[in-house]
Amino acid sequence: MDPLDYVQQHRERFLEELMQFLRIPSISTQAEHKADMLAAASWLSDRLRDAGFPRAEVMPTQGHPVVYAEWLAAGPAAPTVLIYGHYDVQPVDPLDEWETEPFEPAIRGDDLFARGASDDKGQLYIHVKVAEAYHMTAGTPPVNVKCLFEGEEESGSPSLEPFIRAHRDLLAADLALISDTGILAKDLPSIVYGLRGLVYLEVEVTGPQHDLHSGGYGGAVNNPINALCRIISGLQDADGHVTVPGFYDRVRNLTAEEREMLARVPFDRSAWLARTGVPTDWGEPEYTIPERTSVRPTLDVNGIWGGYTEPGSKTVLPSRAHAKISMRLVPDQEPEEITRLVSSYIRAIAPPSVRVKVHSLHGAPPALVDRNSPAMRAARQAYHDTFGVEPLMIRGGGSIPVVTTFLRELGIDTVLMGFGLPDDGGHGPNEKFHVPNFYRGIVTVTRFLAHLASDNA
Ligand code: BES
Ligand code: MN
Ligand code: MN
Repeated sequence: MDPLDYVQQHRERFLEELMQFLRIPSISTQAEHKADMLAAASWLSDRLRDAGFPRAEVMPTQGHPVVYAEWLAAGPAAPTVLIYGHYDVQPVDPLDEWETEPFEPAIRGDDLFARGASDDKGQLYIHVKVAEAYHMTAGTPPVNVKCLFEGEEESGSPSLEPFIRAHRDLLAADLALISDTGILAKDLPSIVYGLRGLVYLEVEVTGPQHDLHSGGYGGAVNNPINALCRIISGLQDADGHVTVPGFYDRVRNLTAEEREMLARVPFDRSAWLARTGVPTDWGEPEYTIPERTSVRPTLDVNGIWGGYTEPGSKTVLPSRAHAKISMRLVPDQEPEEITRLVSSYIRAIAPPSVRVKVHSLHGAPPALVDRNSPAMRAARQAYHDTFGVEPLMIRGGGSIPVVTTFLRELGIDTVLMGFGLPDDGGHGPNEKFHVPNFYRGIVTVTRFLAHLASDNA
C-alpha cells in the first residue's frame, strides 16, 4: 500500500492521538509541571516505539528530559535525517481568555484548539505519523531517521547544547528537519529559510533601601520606576529604531535576490490589522510590515513591575523597579556582543541617583539556512506536490536556538518544514492548529523523505 493511502485511512485516529498528547500540560517553565514533562516525554517515547522505531527512549539532561529515537534501516548509503521538535509548551495565562480549557483539546470547525496544538506538539506529531505510515506499508522509512524531541525550547533550551555536545556520535546526521514554523496561508505554502536570534535581559533598578513616603521624600529621591522608564525610552526612538550605539553595525543588508523573494510575498494589511487588533501599525517607517517582523532587529519590553499595583492608591516611592527586555536579532548580529553593548549602554545612561543591575537570561543567534541545497529542493518539491503551488521562500520572525547548535556542533544544515498558520495564536490564548495542515504536514513530510531517498539513489 502507498503510505499516503495509509495516512488517508487512519487520519481520525492520528487526530485522537494528538489530542491525548495535548492533554498533558507540559509547561516547561513552571516547576509544578515537572511530572507532566516526564509524562509527556514517556508518552511520546511510547508512540515512537508504536510507530516502529526499534529504539526510542527518554534520556535525562540537566533539565527536562529529551526523547531520542532512531531507525537506521535504510542502510549506510542512505542519508540520515535528524528530526527535531519540542514537546514543551508555553504557559496558558491569561486563562480567562480561553474559550475552552487549554489542556482539553476541542475541535471547532477545521481547527483543533489547545495549548501546544501548533507550537509544537501538533507539528512534532506529524513526524511520528510519517514513520508509522512507512512502517505499516513499506516496512521501514526510505531514509535513516533519528528523532530529538526536547522539553525546554520555550525556556531557551538551556540543557540542549550540553546534551548535543555530549552525544555527537549518537546524533550524527546529514541534515536536520524541523516542523516548528508556519506557512503564509492555508493554500499558500512557504518555507522559512531564516530565523531571528534573541537576547533576553532582566533589568533591576534600585533606589532607596526601602519604600519611602512620597510626600516626605518625593522630589529629592529619584523614583526607580521613573528612572527605569527613562532608561527604557533611551534604548529606542519613537519610530522603533534602537538607539544603542553599535546595535546595527553587523546587520546585513538584504541581497537583491532576497528582496525580490520578499516582494513576491502577498501581504494583506487589513487582515493583519484585524488579527492584531491594533489601531494602526508601528515601527521603522522605511521598512514594510513583513520586513519589520522578519528581517529587521527589534527591542521590546516583555514585562515591567514594581511599586504599588493593588486597588486604590498608595502614595509611595518604591525601592525597586524591574523590566524584562528582549531583542530579536538578525544576521550577523551576535547575542554576546549585543548583550554587552546594550548592558553597558543601560549602565551608561542610568543616572547616578539609582543603582542598575542587568542580568542576561538567554540568547540565541540568528540563523540562515541554505536555500539551494538538494534537501531544500526536495522540500520545495514536496510542498508543491501537496499544495499544488510552488512554496514561497520567507524569513521567520521567531527563534529556534537549536538551528545554530546543529550547525556548530554537528556540522549540519536544517530544513524548516513548518505547517502552522499566521493566526494559530502560538503563545497566546486559544492556540489552535488547522487540522487540514496536520494531515497535509504528514503527506508533505512523507513525500519529502521519499524525494530525499530517490535523490540519493
Ligand atoms: N516555534 C517557535 C519559533 C517560531 C515562531 C519561529 C514563529 C518562526 C516563526 C518557538 O517555539 C519559539 O517560540 N521560540 C522562542 C525561542 C526563545 C524562547 C528562545 C521565541 O521565538 O520566542
Ligand atoms: Mn515552537
Ligand atoms: Mn514557541
